[in-house]
Amino acid sequence: MHAVDLIQKKRDGQRLSRSELEFLITGYVRGEIPDYQMAAWIMAVYFQGMDAEEIAELTLIMARSGDTLDLSGIQGVKVDKHSTGGVGDTTTLIVTPLVASLGVPVAKMSGRGLGHTGGTVDKLESIPGFKVDLSPEQFITQVNKIGLSLVGQTGQLAPADKLLYALRDVTATVDSIPLIASSIMSKKIAAGADGFVLDVKVGAGAFMKTEAEALELARTMVQIGQLAKRETVALVTDMNQPLGRAVGNALEVKEAILTLRGEGPARLTELCLELSAEMLLVADITNSRSEARRMAEENFRTGQALGKFRELIKAQGGDAKVVDDLSLLPQAGHAKEVLAPAAGYVHKVDPLVIGVTAMELGAGREHKDSVIDLAVGIELQTEVGDHIQKGQALATLYANDRQKLEAAAAKVLQAFEIADGKPLLAPTIYRKITAKEL
Ligand code: URA
Ligand code: CA
Repeated sequence: MHAVDLIQKKRDGQRLSRSELEFLITGYVRGEIPDYQMAAWIMAVYFQGMDAEEIAELTLIMARSGDTLDLSGIQGVKVDKHSTGGVGDTTTLIVTPLVASLGVPVAKMSGRGLGHTGGTVDKLESIPGFKVDLSPEQFITQVNKIGLSLVGQTGQLAPADKLLYALRDVTATVDSIPLIASSIMSKKIAAGADGFVLDVKVGAGAFMKTEAEALELARTMVQIGQLAKRETVALVTDMNQPLGRAVGNALEVKEAILTLRGEGPARLTELCLELSAEMLLVADITNSRSEARRMAEENFRTGQALGKFRELIKAQGGDAKVVDDLSLLPQAGHAKEVLAPAAGYVHKVDPLVIGVTAMELGAGREHKDSVIDLAVGIELQTEVGDHIQKGQALATLYANDRQKLEAAAAKVLQAFEIADGKPLLAPTIYRKITAKEL
């Protein structure tokens, strides 16, 4: 086999067989196929696409390109969730203790934040003492004991994805649905769960800007799951404004705790209940959609989910008192309110502007090795559809460097659009895709 023939084949719109994909991907990971040939092949994929089975084969080859987690030592159907990345998205901190409290074992590896989107691992580290670096044995033992563990990535999961992503990043080939779908699903499959619930974001703050693109990505990933024999469900959800009201690590932990107490924002709460219901179905805790939703609401209301979050914090060395005393979370030294310049309805809160500004305040990483400040970020006081008065607070900014506040306040103001007349409200959840509906 020669790489040049496989590039030509894809260039001319043909499909590659499993052994041909294996030759390309493993050859590339071993350094036997050079970047220029892989880049040419990726560009051919960008223009010609791949069929469903070809994408699934590629995904499984990428998933097996490095370490894979063996979760067979955990009883039950292990279900993982994944969000394609948004702003103010604390769902993992809420959904995983909720479903664990209902018997779904969750052994989840999460990432750190990069750019304008946050990462669960950084958020967890804002809880004093919380350890995200458990050994695989500790990780599995903890899930068997309390039903839940949230850790950072260990080992080399899907190194093929790491190499391909870096290449895509510099060859204008990131936004290809077969390549995005295989990238996400290869990492999920390598992390060992039996089933997945995916949250595919759409809108101004998401990778996918249109509902049509998001649907195609959702369908492609559900199809990969089906061909890889892992039950997969996807929700296509709104990212035209931040999901929750907090953006920044400790601020988002605070919001997650408030939400687990039943005091969270409505859209965030609703999405968490829906994601949880889907996880209960995938895990076969129940076969009834309405029963799944009822169970999720019940454990939310009775505080079982909050109790499980407390157990999680304790099990991973953190100070569980934060759940009852939010002032134990890191606090920023300076705060500044952004005030409405005029009365009217909030028509827009641009999630990209909010996310990037929170990052600039120190909540996120501009580069892989930037140092972040866990205490800082933005708390929104309003959302799309609210009517506000002139001079009312739209948002509060938190920083440790007072100098950063002025510039950030001007930017955050730009994120808001205030006008007369009630705006149309986007739904929180647009669509649900299951294997049956493909
Ligand atoms: N997220 C990923 O993990 N991979 C992509 O290709 C795009 C988003
Ligand atoms: Ca099921």
